[in-house]
Amino acid sequence: EGDDDLTARPPVVTVMGHVDHGKTKLLDAIRQTDVVAGEAGGITQHIGAYQVHTTHEGTDRAVTFIDTPGHEAFTAMRARGAQVTDIAILVVAADDGVMPQTIEALNHAQAAGVPIVVAVNKVDKEGANPAKVRQQLTEYNLVAEEYGGDTMFVDVSAKSLTGIDQLLEAVLLTADAALDLRANADKDARGVAIEANLDKGRGAVATVLVQSGTLNVGDSIVAGTAYGRVRAMFDEHGEPVLVAGPSRPVQVLGLTSVPRAGDTFIVAPDDRTARQIGEKREAAERAALLAKRRKRISLEDFT
Ligand code: GTP
Ligand code: NA
Ligand code: MG
Repeated sequence: EGDDDLTARPPVVTVMGHVDHGKTKLLDAIRQTDVVAGEAGGITQHIGAYQVHTTHEGTDRAVTFIDTPGHEAFTAMRARGAQVTDIAILVVAADDGVMPQTIEALNHAQAAGVPIVVAVNKVDKEGANPAKVRQQLTEYNLVAEEYGGDTMFVDVSAKSLTGIDQLLEAVLLTADAALDLRANADKDARGVAIEANLDKGRGAVATVLVQSGTLNVGDSIVAGTAYGRVRAMFDEHGEPVLVAGPSRPVQVLGLTSVPRAGDTFIVAPDDRTARQIGEKREAAERAALLAKRRKRISLEDFT
């Protein structure tokens, strides 16, 4: 595809960090700052990914958040060959400082070549020492800009809602400086299933992230071995949407079974082809499983 066909897309961000350092609370805080949700006065649905809007250098910018623990987003997605994250926010509690899972998380992001923005959280707490966090992380090549490095650190409190706008600002500055976030919106959609479940009334409900192209209601899709025609799509506010472009997370109804987190999805030319692809993949998976089982049995014969 030529460069001419590429248009800017929002960065896709995951939040990682040590247990109880405030990942979930921070995601909630970010959601609360969303100007769009604010205007609509709507209650945000819990879906596996959502987009917020912020004003950056005078223009409206969207940022997509994947609402699974960053760690899982990396392992589950990467196990299936999908990389969804453009940027990782590393949450470090300012009272606790760097902990084992902080290091694990930053290792994941660095191994994937994903730029990191550090959110030094819980600065409202007594005993918070944000300077110490900066100092500790230099050991892992995360050197704050104020110390001559190129990593953005932002002091935040997910509890008192301070620093959230600055954090989004830092994400966008990092994205604009380090990444070429463009995609072709003018073709069939491709992307990744972020999470999925079986709903009693609605059937298979999948949150998918469109990575390129545009997904439309009525498209026939295959996600892993699941297939079906997109019957309806909903955004993070539960509002129906008809089209979803690059970096847009949407809930999709219409799949005949539940895909797994990390399954990539594609658009097929028609329902029949979608079913054929899905069934072929399922048969291949079954055969692989059987072969594995046979191998195990024959090994057992000799031991
Ligand atoms: P896991 O998902 O279990 O790894 O935890 P988490 O990183 O998602 O942390 P969570 O958001 O659940 O927060 C853990 C605890 O810290 C909760 O009791 C939060 O209320 C508290 N907490 C989170 N952010 C802040 C903050 O900015 N200030 C204060 N004082 N407490 C916070
Ligand atoms: Na927790
Ligand atoms: Mg959590």
